[in-house]
Amino acid sequence: MMLEGKVAIVTGAGGGIGREIALAMALAGAKVVVNDIGASLTGEGETSATPGQQTQAIIEQRGGQAVVNTDSVSDWESAKRIVKTAVDAFGKVDIVVNNAGILRDQIFHKTSPEEWLAVINVHLNGSFFVSRAAAEHFRAQGSGAYVHMTSTSGLIGNFGQANYSAAKLGIAALSKSIALDMQRFGVRSNCIAPFAWSRMTSSIPAETPEQKARVEKLKRMTPEKNAPLAVFLASDAAKDVTGQIFAARNNELFLFNQPRPVRSAHRSEGWTPELIAEHALPALKAQFMPLDRSADVFAWDPV
Ligand code: NAI
Repeated sequence: MMLEGKVAIVTGAGGGIGREIALAMALAGAKVVVNDIGASLTGEGETSATPGQQTQAIIEQRGGQAVVNTDSVSDWESAKRIVKTAVDAFGKVDIVVNNAGILRDQIFHKTSPEEWLAVINVHLNGSFFVSRAAAEHFRAQGSGAYVHMTSTSGLIGNFGQANYSAAKLGIAALSKSIALDMQRFGVRSNCIAPFAWSRMTSSIPAETPEQKARVEKLKRMTPEKNAPLAVFLASDAAKDVTGQIFAARNNELFLFNQPRPVRSAHRSEGWTPELIAEHALPALKAQFMPLDRSADVFAWDPV
């Protein structure tokens, strides 16, 4: 019971990874605010309380405690109500899992301002709003844990996802800054780059044999594979862990390197553009990040 006595808010907990994290946190002893607006994948159209209520019902069937909240993460007043739900129902908040998300994939030159703003609002602004609303409580009680969902789409890059990639790398930066700013109050902040077969990944193309093979691998990565890492990061067992970016892929956990200089070129007289081309480029080029995702983390077979 690693979360005995804790109160957790899990956003987007009506399905996919968020539901599995909410269930696992409840099984670990936490009282859970199941937040979800019941949105479509793109965040357009009708919303519904049903997905959140279903998660709550499973938690209660298993003897746990949960309340449902249907406020959107993507608005400041509404985010404050999510945190208030935890305080009203359970008297406090110890854990915030920023998991809610939508997708509006589009190749960059066709991405509309609406597609950009919609995704930034739910992922990046939503993670800020809910974190910020909880921060006052965390500060007052001298403890708290944030777990944010980032993505390899942001950490590595991905085709057709400028809005989502920017939001997800922004979330990694937000987490690091929260970790630095709130360390003095005993508050921790970490990211997970999850891998899961969910409605978010079910639109990944599976046309070429290579794509088909990748999708078959992804199908083995069920959403609940991400939950133990989230429970651990939220628990006191992770008391020395903050400002880090983890990934969960099937049965494999990995840590992403923090960005830091990987190679340098120095010239005591300074540089001209020509000298950069002639001398600096050959030295630095060996460490360029590959544009091809398959050259990086996706080259490894999940174990
Ligand atoms: P999902 O689409 O199954 O779940 C997202 C949930 O967020 C939905 O239940 C939806 O109703 C809810 N939601 C959407 N907008 C909301 C809002 N404004 N306020 C509150 N709730 C809202 O997606 P999945 O796959 O479970 O993803 C969960 C998180 O993990 C997301 O942040 C996603 O970006 C991230 N992620 C997922 C990966 C995967 O392989 N599935 C890979 C990398 C990151």
